[in-house]
Amino acid sequence: MKKEIKICMGSSCFARGNIDNLRLIEDYIKENNADIELCGLRCGNNCTKGPNIVINGVEYHNVTQEELRKIPEKLNDE
Ligand code: FES
Repeated sequence: MKKEIKICMGSSCFARGNIDNLRLIEDYIKENNADIELCGLRCGNNCTKGPNIVINGVEYHNVTQEELRKIPEKLNDE
């Protein structure tokens, strides 16, 4: 299965933390030369639960940088 991360780029999620989360994910992919498809999402009207990120089809809410450091575990949960 192709590994995929979708990050909400809507203004609310962006302001709530996805601006830093995006950087962290990009760094992770670069540093690990990881084969992960990263793409942005438009606002999904779930702003109050943001920042929102979808990893391999599973939606995560209120995503902190700390949680994102568990990316490898989440990507391998299938
Ligand atoms: S900005 Fe992300 S759900 Fe609205």
